[in-house]
Amino acid sequence: MKQTVVLKVDSQQPDIEKVRVAADIIREGGLVAFPTETVYGLGADALNQKAVLALFEAKKRPMDNPPIVHVENIDDVYRLAEQVPPKADKLMRKFWPGPLTLIFKRSEIVPDVTVAGLDTIAVRMPQHAVALALIRESRRSIASPSANLAGKPSPTSAEHVFDDLNGRIDAILDGGPTRIGVESTVLDLSFDPPLILRPGGTSLEALRRVLGDVKLHPFVVAEKELPIEKTRSPGMKHKHYAPNAQVIVVEGGISAVITKVKELAESYRLKGVKVGVLATDETKAAYRAYVVKSLGSRFNLAVVAQNLFRLLRELDAEGVDVIIAEGVPTEGLGLAVMNRLRKASGYNIIKAE
Ligand code: TXA
Ligand code: MG
Repeated sequence: MKQTVVLKVDSQQPDIEKVRVAADIIREGGLVAFPTETVYGLGADALNQKAVLALFEAKKRPMDNPPIVHVENIDDVYRLAEQVPPKADKLMRKFWPGPLTLIFKRSEIVPDVTVAGLDTIAVRMPQHAVALALIRESRRSIASPSANLAGKPSPTSAEHVFDDLNGRIDAILDGGPTRIGVESTVLDLSFDPPLILRPGGTSLEALRRVLGDVKLHPFVVAEKELPIEKTRSPGMKHKHYAPNAQVIVVEGGISAVITKVKELAESYRLKGVKVGVLATDETKAAYRAYVVKSLGSRFNLAVVAQNLFRLLRELDAEGVDVIIAEGVPTEGLGLAVMNRLRKASGYNIIKAE
């Protein structure tokens, strides 16, 4: 067991002394969790093989699923990537710092473990003062997957990180809850049109406005488990975002969804199963269950995204056996929300009509 130090910092103007304590840990090969605009990341020096190995171990992450490397200036991309296509240059200028991860051919300075033996590397520049200060002060590129135990919902607060990783990592920079709540969008530019491998904080619509056509990888919109061969992003094939409770997603028109959720909740209740309903502001009054929580308004999907992972964790903490979640529209951040919910359910999706 390690002693995990929690360093509270202001999210806008972090105390530089505390950031330096964390940066020194990164430079010495240690592990530091820190806030980004999406979710908390667990950072290690990306070019230090031992540190990255320790990172996989702390998260219990499968070794074939590489982390995203975080930078605080565009020059660093040119050291990590063998080549930077013009489209990438355009995207970096437009969307960075921000929730967009780009896949590049990797350069030779990157150790195999950091990219799980692939010939590509995932890079992004986070839009968070604490994350940027940590990268700057450590003078390192920071490999950083989400700071949860593998398979658990991503952490949107320092408390979530603490619950999963206390005793397994050196420090947590606590900068309060994260703003976006779902992870970055992962985009592969080696395809024409470019391919979204994971929908996230940068919407498909926003990318299309800049790039023209952009496609979604079949996994992203899958309504059932797809065969592994179709996998492009290593993370796609691993169990993800799952709370302990079994998740069921009910999709369809709003009134049909309400009827179906009620019916399911009632039949579980009669069997003595503890049900948690993940509803929205517009629908929550319709349900009676052991716990009912609202993701926010169906008309504000950014708020729904912000609340999703926290509420999945809260429902687990309340000890529910089954979570029945309403589907939300797949527009804007709703696409990322539905991708995470469907995965969390193991594709246990019910179409209400
Ligand atoms: O918002 C985020 O992206 C957060 C914060 C901490 O920055 N990070 C995050 O990292 O979500 P992680 O490791 O949980 O997810 C990284 C995703 C995985 O799905 C992984 O498979 C994919 O990026 N990935 C990493 N390297 C890749 C590569 N070379 N090619 C394709 N996908 C890759
Ligand atoms: Mg993750």
